[in-house]
Amino acid sequence: MTIRAAVVGSTGYTGFELVSLLRYHPQVELRVLTSQSYVGQPISQVFPALRGVCSLVCEGLNPESLVARADVIFVALPHKQAMEVVPGFILAGRKVVDLSADFRFRDAAVYEAWYQPHTAGDFLAEAVYGLPELHADEIRKARLVGNPGCYPTGVILAAAPLVRHGVVTLESIIADCKSGVSGAGRAATLTTHYCEANEGFRAYSVGEHRHTPEIEQELSALAGQPLRVVFTPHLVPMSRGILTTLYANLAREASDAEVRALYQEMYGGAPFVRILDKGQLPSTMYVRGTNYCDIGWRLEPRTGRIIVITAIDNLARGASSQAVCNMNLMCGFAEETGLNLRVWQP
Ligand SMILES: NC(=O)c1ccc[n+]([C@@H]2O[C@H](COP(=O)([O-])OP(=O)(O)OC[C@H]3O[C@@H](n4cnc5c(N)ncnc54)[C@H](OP(=O)(O)O)[C@@H]3O)[C@@H](O)[C@H]2O)c1
Repeated sequence: MTIRAAVVGSTGYTGFELVSLLRYHPQVELRVLTSQSYVGQPISQVFPALRGVCSLVCEGLNPESLVARADVIFVALPHKQAMEVVPGFILAGRKVVDLSADFRFRDAAVYEAWYQPHTAGDFLAEAVYGLPELHADEIRKARLVGNPGCYPTGVILAAAPLVRHGVVTLESIIADCKSGVSGAGRAATLTTHYCEANEGFRAYSVGEHRHTPEIEQELSALAGQPLRVVFTPHLVPMSRGILTTLYANLAREASDAEVRALYQEMYGGAPFVRILDKGQLPSTMYVRGTNYCDIGWRLEPRTGRIIVITAIDNLARGASSQAVCNMNLMCGFAEETGLNLRVWQP
């Protein structure tokens, strides 16, 4: 079976990743690309890397024409813009994977406290949080998936087994995360242009980053009670990748073998989580451009803590390859279809 796909917002960084993945997906025919600034231009002019790879021309967004030509629609727009178009696609009977924050929250009040008024709150009840390791069964049945944020993907995967099994005290979780600059999207800003970002390393949005409630939503559900996390993002002068260092107090004594068994139990069958051997630690370098999340940890008996490290590629596992993985589940394809990407080594 071949499905027809569209990418709305194809000219952003996540849009590029979607185009390059879908173009080679064996079960997908990529039919429609939309843009607001590049209407009428071939996508290969917007992204020269797509020369000879994709011949589609960017269109303005015409929802009626789009739903007539696509079965699955990836929405890679900024939040707020996404919720203006997603309901129409769903009501037209299409499957949607939305990469923005607009459909990640179960509770509209939480979204509204951290973002802005929600104009499509009726759709939150059916939207599924698109982290396959936690919600694969629901994703398979969904017509609307809210694709996770980049930071939450790395943090939730690091903490999930520990939180579910009560290995750590719930009030003690600290997620210290470092991201490459592409996390901020393609448009140049004062904080992300070369001279401002290169050769510097700084924290931002301390205590107020919008990914905080998303992490708390998913970990609270696993814990069976509300929890809060300290989440501090940093901007690192690299193009892509997120390294998460998660600290938590042990709630009881735990051996390395026991911790490994818990990660294995949760992710042993997951094709895109790599649990590293003892003595190894993740690096963004080894997951670059892939859907992998690498996980390693150290128990620290001296302080009674566990320190868990995860590495993901923010544009791939943190956005577009995870979105394709969700599409695979929604369409009944094997989770890995079209995602067995090459790995990199400089
Ligand atoms: N970057 C990441 O690492 C990452 C990770 C996870 C999730 N996300 C989320 O994914 C979404 C896309 O992110 P991105 O990094 O790809 O952003 P981006 O590089 O800034 O691209 C944004 C895209 O949306 C279009 N767009 C912007 N404003 C629009 C408007 N008012 N109406 C219609 N189209 C508009 C742009 O079109 P033109 O280029 O034609 O102007 C472009 O195609 C965002 O919601 C972001 O939060 C990003």
